[in-house]
Amino acid sequence: MSTTQPHRVLSGMRPTGKLHLGHYHGALKNWVKLQQDYTCFYFVADWHALTTHYEDRDIIGQNVWDMVIDWLAAGIDPERSCIFIQSRVPEHAELHLLLSMITPLGWLERVPSFKDQQDKLKDRDLNTYGFLGYPLLQSADILIYRASRVPVGEDQVAHIELTREVARRFNHLYGGPTKQTILTEPQALLTPESKIPGLDGQKMSKSYGNAITLRDEPAEVEKKLRTMPTDPARVRRTDPGEPEKCPVWQFHKVYSDEATRDWVQQGCRSAGIGCIECKRPVIAAVKAELEPMRDRARELEARPHEVRDRVAAGCQHARTVAAATLADVRAAMGLSYQ
Ligand code: TRP
Ligand code: SF4
Repeated sequence: MSTTQPHRVLSGMRPTGKLHLGHYHGALKNWVKLQQDYTCFYFVADWHALTTHYEDRDIIGQNVWDMVIDWLAAGIDPERSCIFIQSRVPEHAELHLLLSMITPLGWLERVPSFKDQQDKLKDRDLNTYGFLGYPLLQSADILIYRASRVPVGEDQVAHIELTREVARRFNHLYGGPTKQTILTEPQALLTPESKIPGLDGQKMSKSYGNAITLRDEPAEVEKKLRTMPTDPARVRRTDPGEPEKCPVWQFHKVYSDEATRDWVQQGCRSAGIGCIECKRPVIAAVKAELEPMRDRARELEARPHEVRDRVAAGCQHARTVAAATLADVRAAMGLSYQ
């Protein structure tokens, strides 16, 4: 793990289990790429999963390992990046507690995801202390590594903004007359929004049953894409269609070169090509993309100890880095008295 790079990147994912193409194009692919230029810390936000799913204790473990295997299979390299699990680095919790002392309630109440998620996840009681603190825990995750760049999607930008405000307030209160920077204000590295829709044109999600997972077999990929609905106006082969109204076109935008995209535009609008024909290059591209990942995931599944050892080493390294920041924070807040 190189430490000579000026920026430290950190990001986390809640343990959602096996990942799908939406995760890959919306986040993971970018994580893999960032490893080339930065020292990266990538972690499983298992405490964050408990803030909303505190009743689902039995599934967390399986979801964690399934997700980590997919990270590794997709190219997250534990030799270059530190991969770890949030709850195995209890320093995050202490920093969260200490930051809670200086965080005005209003800052948390006005984070948009607070009300949004409470409205959306109506089936559970999210009137909890832990749920209100969700973004502050995320701030602690980031600040404890003094990460300067945080790759996230649009929906997380408000959380990074809060993190910056908390860091600023901390430095203001405890930086002393010389205005020392104890905690680093991070910047969001906005991941270009994934344009990959689910098979039904909605957002790809396991719970909607419209996902292609990174471990789907070629035959499954083929079947899912073949039966995927297209522009409803194309009832018969001779009916012209409109790519903008068809989820297959969104796949072409991600997977196809310009010549193929022109062929689709032309052929669809003139009914010159059929939908099965149109899907063929997409099917081939998705299969080619997934093949090496699936193979690698199978290998890793067969060696669970290796995966656990890698993550254990990552947790250990993370704790060392986290402990150093925490020592500074404790001292700054007057807690390192004898
Ligand atoms: N809240 C993030 C999400 O739902 C996950 C997360 C937790 C995270 N802690 C983080 C992301 C720290 C970036 C940095 O996607
Ligand atoms: Fe969709 Fe292609 Fe069929 Fe047009 S030809 S409706 S873009 S699948």
